[in-house]
Amino acid sequence: MQVQVGIIGAGPAGLLLARMLHLQGISCAIIESRSRAYAEGRVRAGLLEQGSVDLLTETGMGERLHKEALVHDGIELIFNGERHRIDLHELTGRRVYIYGQQEAVKDMIAINLAAGVPIYFEAEAHKLEGVESTKPRIHYRYQGKDEVLTCDYIAGCDGFHGICREVIPPALFKGHDRIYPFGWLGIMAEAKPTSDELLYCRHDRGFALFTMRSESVSRCYLQVPPDENPDDWSDDRIWSEFDTRLGRHEGLTLSTGKILMKGVTAMRSFVTEPMQFGRMFLAGDAAHIVPPTGAKGMNLAIADIYVLARALTSFYKKNDSRGLETYGETCLRRVWRAQHFSWWMTSMLHISPDGNPFDHKRQLAELYAVSTSRAGQTYLAENYVGLPFET
Ligand code: FAD
Ligand code: DHB
Repeated sequence: MQVQVGIIGAGPAGLLLARMLHLQGISCAIIESRSRAYAEGRVRAGLLEQGSVDLLTETGMGERLHKEALVHDGIELIFNGERHRIDLHELTGRRVYIYGQQEAVKDMIAINLAAGVPIYFEAEAHKLEGVESTKPRIHYRYQGKDEVLTCDYIAGCDGFHGICREVIPPALFKGHDRIYPFGWLGIMAEAKPTSDELLYCRHDRGFALFTMRSESVSRCYLQVPPDENPDDWSDDRIWSEFDTRLGRHEGLTLSTGKILMKGVTAMRSFVTEPMQFGRMFLAGDAAHIVPPTGAKGMNLAIADIYVLARALTSFYKKNDSRGLETYGETCLRRVWRAQHFSWWMTSMLHISPDGNPFDHKRQLAELYAVSTSRAGQTYLAENYVGLPFET
């Protein structure tokens, strides 16, 4: 099989790229190791920046999103027994949207397939060949047979555990890494959201985040040790810990219900440099991951694709390869801003296991500085709603 762009991975990055290329008449195919049901059922992120929503809308993938997403104008920071609201919309003119990543993935799969974009599910890419030549090849296994996809360019949208990053020669490859001494226990529950807005709570026992998926489904996270076994957390223990970390506030009561699923995710920051080698371009989690506190993971994947799709379009439509040459550089400016923001939100709101009373007092002082000054609030809000896309 031969296409112009071979895409590995049917996550948000690969699916959005396929759609944007298809709209420009550029041929592509997606190779995805998992089944369609698995890809559509994987519960992950939930918060979309305005820019991400705008791009999904412009590419014809926003119809259900606009009907079902919950639009948020603000968030609350809760610390030291106090509630502090950050009015995102008043400070930035922008909003954020709650729409489960798997819902966005379902929409993107359906729209791509309906448009005739081939997506090979349960097809595992195992080798890239000739990425420095003009006809790179993806070797993959599909329905018990070895197959080859020949293309002009390869998009490595294969997530953090993918194979594409490995083609960058060790002499050029730099991996910038930070592992955090905590993880998140995430739950989905049949419970109306505790509040209409997201609550980010810093408590001496650890961080807690109250978010949601709909008016009757809560998604909430607790800071736990990174190797925590979720089975050690009974439903009662989970709700009691959320209750403690939320604290007592007038007009705010923890909403509980049946826990539908729970899982622990360890937290790390990681950036690959460079993000391209020869005719292979990394995008999304294949190139970088962030701790989830700033909700940047999926949004960064979308921002990479905005740059990559435009660069490929300029090459095919105008024979202009400048966008491709500077792809990684362009993306990395935003990636490092988001890395800093995610690290900052994480360190401001989590309790470090080796923290001392000085660290606690300093953390509270920082939270007061951010939430009681308009400049501080604006800094948080601008980064939270997302910086404008770069070209
Ligand atoms: P992915 O969604 O990982 O997609 C990569 C795809 O490539 C996968 O479908 C994979 O099966 C496929 N693939 C991999 N290797 C191969 C191969 N060899 N051949 C073929 N296919 C392959 N972000 C937030 O903002 N908030 C959150 O709360 C949050 N929670 C998360 C929880 C978990 C457990 C994880 C893993 C991530 C979470 N993230 C969160 C991050 C966010 O989900 C990711 O940033 C986002 O999925 C990135 O999209 P992507 O398309 O780059 O990668
Ligand atoms: C969600 C996850 C986050 O990490 C975050 O900061 C905000 C929202 C979510 O899953 O809804």
